[in-house]
Amino acid sequence: MAVPDRVVPNSWFEERLDTSDQWIVDRTGIRERRFAGPNDTVASLSATAANGAMAGAGISPEQLDAIVLGTATPDRLLPATACDLQALLGATNAFALDIDAACPGFLFALSLAEGLIASGQGDNVLVLGAEKLTAITDFEDRGTAVLFGDAAGAAVLSRTTPDGPAARGILSSFLKSDGRLANLLYRPGGGSADPISARVVEERSHFMKMQGREVFKAAVLAMAEACDEALHRAGMTGDDIDLLVPHQANLRIIDATARHAGIPMDKVMVNVDRYGNTSSASIPLALAQAEAEQRIGPGSVVLLVAFGAGFTWASSVIRW
Ligand code: ACO
Repeated sequence: MAVPDRVVPNSWFEERLDTSDQWIVDRTGIRERRFAGPNDTVASLSATAANGAMAGAGISPEQLDAIVLGTATPDRLLPATACDLQALLGATNAFALDIDAACPGFLFALSLAEGLIASGQGDNVLVLGAEKLTAITDFEDRGTAVLFGDAAGAAVLSRTTPDGPAARGILSSFLKSDGRLANLLYRPGGGSADPISARVVEERSHFMKMQGREVFKAAVLAMAEACDEALHRAGMTGDDIDLLVPHQANLRIIDATARHAGIPMDKVMVNVDRYGNTSSASIPLALAQAEAEQRIGPGSVVLLVAFGAGFTWASSVIRW
């Protein structure tokens, strides 16, 4: 994982917006988040996370066959940020692409990487979720400004070998989208339908817009469905899960998801208080922290679940 150095507490917003630390903590569970500095980009944060993941996996950049980067905040609209990352890493043998599935971006990337390995396109795939959400956040909108932070997380997914640990890896995956609900959480301007212009900037339509209450309701339902599907496809129940690692958007959504899956809170990874919502970086960030704190180790069964703009939602059961 990689996060920028700058820690921004809730009090920073109290000085600028009609909000309070208590409102933010009560409604979201967030106490602080990280903001990118002038030299932090999605590619640079990704490179730091990737180097950590490759060191942990004992894989060199040349051994990577593909790089799949989940991001809703690419550094540039052309080319893919994954190509900039490839250049930074010196991963000369890889092909590289971005996928935009918003908050479940890491889970979509993981599933795509699994398919690339299964279809013989490679043996080692670097999978990332990375965001610089502060670049698309409207700091005049208290309904969204307090929620988001910047971060990157990475993992190396490799082909299991017959002599490797049995039944290790991805046990099940579930991916879903519903584009009919896109306008509940979106950036209206700045894309090719309404290219960046003085009007777009003046209207602030290049920033994220969200109908929070509607997104909240949809998130609770979608996270529940995603838990059910991943568990069902793995032939498991909540009792089989050692750690639930949910997307870190809001503590109340995390609570509802854990309750639905029948998983007690002491088996739920929570770090939304420290990093806020980092969209596609949220799950790999939480996984990295869980591993560092030895809450998961070889053989642990982990349920990953996320929901975001699109709408998109996804889940996976993995054996660590
Ligand atoms: N400080 C103080 N008051 C606020 C703030 C704030 N920062 N933001 C909103 N309010 C006010 C609203 O204006 C509203 O006031 P009103 O009753 O006078 O109209 C009141 O608080 C309640 O607003 P709600 O939106 O109903 O509050 P809610 O309890 O739903 O919490 C929140 C808002 C935290 C945004 C919640 O709806 C939420 O978490 N939604 C889901 C967000 C999410 O998970 N996004 C995930 C995907 S992100 C991605 O994909 C990039």
